[in-house]
Amino acid sequence: MMKILLKVSGSIAAFKAAALASKLVQNGFEVQTVMTESAKDFIGAGTFEGLTGKRVATDLFEDGHRMEHIWLARWAELTLFYPASADSIAKLAQGRASDLASTLFLAHDFKSPYWISPAMNPTMFSHPAVQANLLKLKEYGAVVLTPDRGRMACGEYGDGRLIEPEALLSQLLEYKNLRRSQGRVLVTAGGTFDPIDSVRGITNTSTGETGVKLAETLSERGFAVTLLLSKTATVTLPKLDGIEVHRFTTYQDLDRALKHELETHDFLACVHAAAVGDFDAELASESGKISSREAVTLTLKPRGKILSRLKEYSKNKALKLISFKLTVGEWDEARLHSEYSMSDLVIQNDLSRIQKGGAQHEAQIYLRSSQGFTLLNQPKTKVDIFETVVKVLSEAAAAEV
Ligand SMILES: Cc1cc2nc3c(=O)[nH]c(=O)nc-3n(C[C@H](O)[C@H](O)[C@H](O)COP(=O)(O)O)c2cc1C
Repeated sequence: MMKILLKVSGSIAAFKAAALASKLVQNGFEVQTVMTESAKDFIGAGTFEGLTGKRVATDLFEDGHRMEHIWLARWAELTLFYPASADSIAKLAQGRASDLASTLFLAHDFKSPYWISPAMNPTMFSHPAVQANLLKLKEYGAVVLTPDRGRMACGEYGDGRLIEPEALLSQLLEYKNLRRSQGRVLVTAGGTFDPIDSVRGITNTSTGETGVKLAETLSERGFAVTLLLSKTATVTLPKLDGIEVHRFTTYQDLDRALKHELETHDFLACVHAAAVGDFDAELASESGKISSREAVTLTLKPRGKILSRLKEYSKNKALKLISFKLTVGEWDEARLHSEYSMSDLVIQNDLSRIQKGGAQHEAQIYLRSSQGFTLLNQPKTKVDIFETVVKVLSEAAAAEV
């Protein structure tokens, strides 16, 4: 749910903020209202509390809520001053911190948008003082919405009428769609390297290429991508601008990094393309270490799959999970249900159908629904595989809106 901080100031149009709050809640937004003292002269706080299901914040010094002037600014994914009076606009432009609404503006870091929707008499709106203040706010990074032109409560006709709630709702839905279509995706790539002793280890032949190329494709298509890439990956990293990259070595490193990322950020999806070692290696030798003079026994003990824990780690419980399964020779679809029941999309390919360094990269892609897995398509190249992933994730992003 997208979090909106709705600030309401003392304008005759304040009643429209109640209509907007109602529409926002109906459209799946979470709304926290902040009212100035004057706003309460125009509309009751109870109306907003009833509509949003949240206590209305007004007072900087309210017992038990004295830190809200910082927390609410951090909490909001978008702040909307609706209606913004000439007086409140002046307070923001001057950098005042004389009430909760203005103090919250100083605590706003512009990592999330700050929209200002002015409402006032046309003569007031065209006054150079108001225009200069609005210009300053734009320079600070706020978005100043152009008020409507029309008949005002005072009988005058002109610019300064508060934008209608329906029109603002459409703008907010559009913004939400845009933001969501660029949802965050976590991609893993490359193979794990698990030490046997201080100089030796077990790894695999994964180059990291599939994961890295997929990360690039997703980034180009507007997703915010975090890439967890193994240090043993040999793939060259030509176009990683805009992709956040963290490196890992062992199974434990990768597990920790996934847990941290998924717990901390709201990811739409995790594309788990890393080749994770299946075994814990246990060394047995008479001397307790590897020596070229004696035989050693290495016991490989199967270990839990990281894949099965990802949804548990994830802050977003609706996380889409995309897994890769490389097989050598045999593939039994029953394994989808036993090993990949947590995955939403499974890309299975067999080593014999992959042309190393070439275009051919045949795969079978299975999609999970409430009825179980169905074969979605059988791409012939990596590009086709990536297109399927982009399509599935774009649909998931749209469905979250
Ligand atoms: C009936 C009435 C209607 C008002 N409407 C507006 C308005 O639409 N826009 C505006 O900027 N000021 C308007 N004001 C003036 C503000 O309420 C006043 O400047 C107040 O100090 C604003 O405080 P605030 O910005 O802290 O809410 C109105 C005042 C009254 C008495």
